[in-house]
Order: sequence, then structure tokens, then C-alpha cells
Amino acid sequence: MEKVKNILGKGNSAGEVYMVQDKGTGRDYALKTVLLIHFNKDEIRAWVHLADKGKAPELYSFHLEDNRVYIKMEILEGKTLKDIFVSEGFGQLMADKEKSEQKKCFSLLLLHGLLENFELLREGKFTHGDGHSGNIVVLPTLDVQLIDFGSAKGIRQGDGIDHTNKLKADVVNIIRQFCAAYSGVDFNEYCDALKALQEKNFQDIQKSMTNIPESDRNWLFRVMLLVFDTVRDNHQEGFADTSKAASEVQAMLPPRKDLEDMKKKIAVLLFPEKYKNPHHDPEFVLEAEVNDEGNTLLDDPDLADLSTLVDLKKDFGDLSLF
Ligand SMILES: Nc1ncnc2c1ncn2[C@@H]1O[C@H](COP(=O)(O)OP(=O)(O)OP(=O)(O)O)[C@@H](O)[C@H]1O
Ligand SMILES: [Mg+2]
Repeated sequence: MEKVKNILGKGNSAGEVYMVQDKGTGRDYALKTVLLIHFNKDEIRAWVHLADKGKAPELYSFHLEDNRVYIKMEILEGKTLKDIFVSEGFGQLMADKEKSEQKKCFSLLLLHGLLENFELLREGKFTHGDGHSGNIVVLPTLDVQLIDFGSAKGIRQGDGIDHTNKLKADVVNIIRQFCAAYSGVDFNEYCDALKALQEKNFQDIQKSMTNIPESDRNWLFRVMLLVFDTVRDNHQEGFADTSKAASEVQAMLPPRKDLEDMKKKIAVLLFPEKYKNPHHDPEFVLEAEVNDEGNTLLDDPDLADLSTLVDLKKDFGDLSLF
């Protein structure tokens, strides 16, 4: 016996993904249904491979009923990157110059997380095949998870599939998400991104980045090329081995302690409903709580204020430094 509680999200191929409660156990799960003719066996293989590493929702079960496959899985308590990109918090990250370090940190954390997931899939001999922003979930801890393995493929030699270009496509999609997270601007089409990276020419996209200083834009393009160089030539040695690029990305992040502080600030911006101070009612802001720019602590979280947040403590550990 099951009860549909609400819709978790909408996709193009599966339609709606529902939050369902099992009336017997009381446990909630996410239910996705896929038409049998669209069901791809590698979907489950690639998914379980990544879920075992804690980087995808746990797969509870799947079964066939009539012409549909019913997939039950863990509900991820995060937000898709697509939703983050249109959120108020992300808008603040993009617009507020004082948050430029947080913006850089978020985009690097995302890039690192996506590269880590790509490497894990590649080790298992899989490509994801559909790395758009609706298939990436950021958890409130800022950990990055992948969902929707409907286009995943096992890399098997001699099966007639062009795996080299599939690996390249996964990497280009990762670069696109990084670019969008740092600049708020995405390429129109996959082929535009591929062409710009191949030709090392970002003239078109930078027309939409006039609000970003030239040195920051150049930094962004350098990082994008650093990652693309792992798949530039289909015949190069170590093709699609992104582990070294991932280490270089990690080295660009702030040192450990600063990183933890930064992550908390970003998490409060992107997940205000989770990390909002329950004692803080924006309707009744005390004078002392308004900073020089007239923003409340919620707009511009102050570390002392954050120290009272139970969820933040739970997700990010010891806050004794606050
Ligand atoms: N485990 C989950 N926990 C929470 N939300 C989920 C989960 N799985 C899917 N969703 C939500 O449902 C949406 C659609 O899911 P999914 O991407 O699997 O469907 P799809 O139809 O295959 O998508 P696409 O349009 O990429 O083909 C996601 O973008 C996300 O918002
Ligand atoms: Mg999807």
C-alpha cells in the first residue's frame, strides 16, 4: 500500500518523480517510472556502481508492471543544480561582489565533485551520458550527487558505440556546469561549448560576461581548458583521466579551515530554508543585527549568528571555532 505525498521533480523522459510513503513501513521513497521501451539495462548498473560510493541515491528496488519499470529510490534532501541556478541565494552569489570568493569556492567545489563522480563512473567503465543541470543534485553539505542514469552506457570494447566521444561529452558537460556556476552564463548548445573549448576561443560566450572582470574571466577559461585538455585529442595518452586535473582544482580551493567556514556561508545562502536561524525572525530585526550595508544577518550571515544553527552543526561538525 502506497500513498503519493508530492512531486519531487519533473524530467523529460520519466515524467514526474514522486515522493511516496509506504503505508506498511511508513518510510518515504522516491518513485520514478520509465517506459519499458526506454529502459536501458546500463541505467541500473551505472547507478548502483555510483550509489555504492555514496554519490547517487540508494536504489531500493525496481520491478516491471505492464509496460513500465517502477524504480524506488532514496529521496535526496538536496536541490538540483537547475533549481540552484534560479534561486535567490545563487543570484546573490552572482551579483554581490563581496561574495566573489564564495562564488569561486562554490564553482570549484562543484567542479571537483563532478570530476570525482566522473572518475568513479569511468573506473567502473561507465559514462553518464546526460550531464545537464537537472541531473545533478547538490546536498546541503555541498556534496555533489548524480541522478538519472537513463542514458548511461557501459564501456565495452567492440560494441559499436563511440565511447571516446561519450567520455568527452561527459567532461564537456561538467565544464559547462562549472562555467554556469561561476559566471551565471551557459553555452547555448553542447556544440557551442565543444567548439569554444576545441578552438580555445571564448569570444561568443564572454559577450554575456561583461559584469565579470577580465582577469576573472581569463581565470575561468583557463580552468575550463585545464579540464578539457584531458579529452582534447581522442588519441592522446591517458585520454579522459581527469584525476590530475581534479587535484589541481582541489589545490585552488581555500585551505582546510577557511574552506569549512566558506562552505557554511555558501550552504546558508543556497539552503536558507534548512539553515535559517529558527530564533531569527526577519520581521523583527534588531538594530544590532543589521550590518553597515543595511542587510540583515540572514542576507549576509555572520559567523556568530550561524553558531546557533543546529542543522549547520550537524552537517558541518564542530563549530567551536565560532
Ligand atoms: N532521488 C531523488 N530525490 C529527489 N529528487 C529527485 C530524485 N530523483 C529525481 N528527482 C527529481 O526529479 C527530476 C526528474 O528525475 P530524472 O532526472 O531521474 O527524470 P528524467 O525524466 O529521466 O529526466 P531527463 O529530463 O533528464 O530525462 C529531477 O530533476 C529531480 O528534480
Ligand atoms: Mg533527468
